[in-house]
Amino acid sequence: MKILVVADEREMSIEAARIIGALVRTKPDAVLGLPTGSTPLGTYRELARMHHEENLDFSRVRTINLDEYIGLSGDHPQSYRAFMRKHLFDHVNIDENNTHIPDGMAENIEEECRRYDEIFYRYGRTDLQMIGIGVNAHIAFNEPADCFTPDTHIAVLTESTINANKRNFDRRDEVPQTAISVGMRGIMSTRHLVLIACGEGKAEAVAKSCFGPVTPQVPGSLIQLHPYTTVIADEAAMALCPVFFENK
Ligand code: PGA
Repeated sequence: MKILVVADEREMSIEAARIIGALVRTKPDAVLGLPTGSTPLGTYRELARMHHEENLDFSRVRTINLDEYIGLSGDHPQSYRAFMRKHLFDHVNIDENNTHIPDGMAENIEEECRRYDEIFYRYGRTDLQMIGIGVNAHIAFNEPADCFTPDTHIAVLTESTINANKRNFDRRDEVPQTAISVGMRGIMSTRHLVLIACGEGKAEAVAKSCFGPVTPQVPGSLIQLHPYTTVIADEAAMALCPVFFENK
C-alpha cells in the first residue's frame, strides 16, 4: 500500500486527478470506477479543468459508479446520476452511454443488482477504482457488518451514514434508507485502488482501514488485501496513523 500524505483537500484532489489523468492519457478507453460524496468534488473539478485546459479527452472513457439511492430517479437532484452530471459528466466530453450508475427506480431491484454485476463482467475489471470512506469506514455503501458482501446488493444505510448524508437533503426523513451498492468484489477487482480522504472526521476510519485488523466491521480494512492500493489523505485524515507520526 502506498500512502501519500498531502497538506490539504486541494492537494489530495490534484494528486488524485493527476493519477486519473495519466491513466486516461495512456489508455483512452480506460474503465474508471467512481465515487460520489464530498471528498471527490475537487478531483472532479480538477479533471474538468484538465479537460478544458490540457485537452484531457474523455470521449472513450467508460465509468462505473459505486452506488445509487433506491427510490430516486436519475433526474432527482440528490440522485448520484444527477451528482455525476453536475460535477463531472457535464464538464467533460464523456459519452453518457459509456457511464454506468445503478437505476434506483428499477422495478426489480434484485435484477438491477445482477444487471450491474454483469457490467463488471463485461468490462473485465476497472483500470482504476477511486473510493472515499465513510466516518464508519464504509466503502461504497458496504456498511460495517458480520461478513463482506461480494455482489452488488441492496444496502440498508446505517444511522451514521444517514446522518452524514442528510446535509444534502432538506430534511433527514428525505434521506433514502436503502441504496444499491457495488459489493467488495466489484471494488477489489480493480487494477488500481485509490482511496481519498480528508479532514479529521475520517482519521479513525483511515487509521483502522490502513493499519487495523482486516474485518467486515471495518469495511475499508479490506483495501489492505489489494495488491495495488494508493491512499491519498491529508494530514488531518492521517492524524491517527502511526506511520504519519513516524515520518514527521
Ligand atoms: P464523503 O463520503 O466523501 O461525503 O465524506 C464518503 C463516503 O461516504 O464514502
